[in-house]
Amino acid sequence: MQINSAVFEISNTDVGKCPKNRIPEYAFIGRSNVGKSSLINMLTNNKKLAKTSGTPGKTQLINHFKINDNWFLVDLPGYGYARVSKKQRRGFQKFIKDYFLKREQLICTFVLIDSRHKPQKIDLDFMGFLGENQIPFCIVFTKADKLTPTVLKRNLAIYKEKLLEDSWDIFPNYFVTSATSKEGKDQVLDFIQGVNEDLKKSQH
Ligand code: GTP
Ligand code: MG
Repeated sequence: MQINSAVFEISNTDVGKCPKNRIPEYAFIGRSNVGKSSLINMLTNNKKLAKTSGTPGKTQLINHFKINDNWFLVDLPGYGYARVSKKQRRGFQKFIKDYFLKREQLICTFVLIDSRHKPQKIDLDFMGFLGENQIPFCIVFTKADKLTPTVLKRNLAIYKEKLLEDSWDIFPNYFVTSATSKEGKDQVLDFIQGVNEDLKKSQH
């Protein structure tokens, strides 16, 4: 899919104030610093669209970006960021949970996992929360440029094994990406395009 336009729409901490447009949206979630904002910029060919930083905790709000004037990409704050309050650290921030539980336009969520790391409880817990609430998601393994193909393959195998052990019957759809080499860009965009087309067909 070609991106012809990518425009910031609005920032929020309140799902009730998110755009009212009945157009499909795709959200990016994961630990702080995993590369959510960088991935959005890579997909849209715009380094300045979403704010990125080497310091965790950069994205603090729900940010809607309108793409090609007919669907949204949503950048969200990270979870697992140590400098938030103890209460927030224990769970996921309430407004993030609310977004996932209440946002009817949300079609698919991309859960970002740093491909360098072994499976971590907070990510598995978040996928558990999505699963319990029947919220569809894919996994995106980020920062693939930082690993050799052999180590990447090994880490993916470890992740698959862990999810199956955690009683997921099937491994979710997944993508391997790099914001620096642009690996995975076409795969993610083509997936979104396919889902958008299926939605259109089902509406007619
Ligand atoms: P928060 O908004 O704080 O939750 O973080 P985030 O998940 O949006 O991460 P962000 O996109 O701001 O990236 C964090 C850091 O990782 C930045 O220094 C990025 O340059 C770097 N980074 C992100 N993606 C990649 C990647 O694919 N490869 C490499 N090498 N660095 C990356
Ligand atoms: Mg961010």
